[in-house]
Amino acid sequence: MRWIKVKDYEELSEKAAEILMKQLESKPDSVIGLATGGTPIGMYQQLVSRYERGDISFARVTAFNLDEYIGMGKEQPESFHAYMEHHFFGHVDLSETSRHIPDGMAENLEEACEAYEADIQASGGIDLQVVGIGQNGHIGFNEPGTSFQSRTHVTELSASTRRANAKYFNGKEMPEQAITMGLQTIMKARSIVLLAYGHEKRKALDQLRTGTITESFPASCLHEHPNVTVLYGEESEGED
Ligand code: F6R
Repeated sequence: MRWIKVKDYEELSEKAAEILMKQLESKPDSVIGLATGGTPIGMYQQLVSRYERGDISFARVTAFNLDEYIGMGKEQPESFHAYMEHHFFGHVDLSETSRHIPDGMAENLEEACEAYEADIQASGGIDLQVVGIGQNGHIGFNEPGTSFQSRTHVTELSASTRRANAKYFNGKEMPEQAITMGLQTIMKARSIVLLAYGHEKRKALDQLRTGTITESFPASCLHEHPNVTVLYGEESEGED
């Protein structure tokens, strides 16, 4: 695992965007795994600016998002479909048919999970996966106790995750379940970049660094992956 400390959120976002750009330079038809949440917003802003300057194209890229809440359609602003449209897809040339996000509205969720795995495989597999980390060590929505062998599945969100993400729901009821890529799905990516920013991630990062590999701390599976970069940093005093 390669650990890179950044001085501020801007640097985190720039470095993450650079890693993605390098990937696309070496393979313009890359398959990219994408995350939502607060942390990658700056990376998406960077990528959109670079696209608008003509420095990068996503025309040949295929994208797979990590997760989506169950019961949330794309018209709901809190859905990850809406997030991706707002922060990234709506601004770049990544074709609609090449954007994949788990279907939280599927009638048959089990079938939707299997189809998602099959689509990832059919694309040739993920070249570069972006992940964030939850305060409880989740990656995707693989909560503590999830099997390292897990594939795309339906998961119950933990109390810790629901507390942390309540801020995105403005007092509205938060879903209790999500569809998420599994830990095995994430581990099959050829390279992984983990983004973590802010003091509330310090404990999780400390635990990740100790290197104890256990299903009670899902991100610890990353120790067994040959190509993981952790970009991390914290606000300086007085900064939010
Ligand atoms: C998002 C996802 C989650 C987040 C994690 C951190 O697609 O899968 O694992 O990456 O909860 O979220 P933020 O960035 O909001 O702290």
